[in-house]
Amino acid sequence: MSRVKVFFNSSVNSKIVASLAGLGLTGFAIFHMLGNLQVFEGSDAINGYASILRDMPILLWTARMGLLIVAGLHIGLVIRLALRNRQGRPVAYAVRRYRAASVASRTMVLTGSLLLFFIIFHLLHLTAGLIDASAPDGLDIQGRVDVYGKIIHAFRNPLYVGIYFVGQLALGLHLSHAISSGLQTLGIEHAALNRLFKLAGSGIALFVVLGNLSIIFAVFLGLIRA
Ligand code: HEM
Repeated sequence: MSRVKVFFNSSVNSKIVASLAGLGLTGFAIFHMLGNLQVFEGSDAINGYASILRDMPILLWTARMGLLIVAGLHIGLVIRLALRNRQGRPVAYAVRRYRAASVASRTMVLTGSLLLFFIIFHLLHLTAGLIDASAPDGLDIQGRVDVYGKIIHAFRNPLYVGIYFVGQLALGLHLSHAISSGLQTLGIEHAALNRLFKLAGSGIALFVVLGNLSIIFAVFLGLIRA
């Protein structure tokens, strides 16, 4: 058996890599939201920011490939671990005991699946421009991709506001449990720390979701316009 196979045959190793990958994706979600907040500074700020990576195609594609590998690792390992857990417990519990478990922890599969659908939709919508035929796929006056125009056009439409709102609910619930449980998996576990991690998980999730929602609703309510 190859070393990689031996390594991933261990559920503990798989859990650690899945958690590290999940925390990496959380980092991306935070930076992506902070970057997108530049829409409040106007088209020059956000289009300039988006063009930094686009002007360096090698860096852009390395980052994209890295993100894809990390997301693939996270999803693949989590599904494999869940299937293994099921195989280890072929008879379902007669009574499910949810007393100590939060809504977020009980709905990880649902929110994770919703999040995956949302991200695929989002890439087809705002990166590839394949969903909305009426969206501008143009450049700004400086010849940069008009990310500002894409965002304004998208969130003037209540349909996209609704879809992104559901995506944010899934993101918030998923992150709020994932951050604390990921940190615990990495072996940082202590009664007092666990409470702190739960607080940090909810706080970071709320920060990311409120940041994203502020963009969506600022456009929808006409506070930012073309
Ligand atoms: C209101 C919330 C969001 C807004 C306004 C937004 C905006 C955008 C825009 C405009 C792009 C295209 C950038 C370009 O063409 O250069 C983009 C790309 C992307 N977004 Fe979002 N996004 C949001 C939420 C999210 C969330 C929650 C995730 C995942 C956790 C996400 C993941 C991505 C990814 C992976 C890309 C592709 C980056 C690339 O390879 O160019 N976005 N987003």
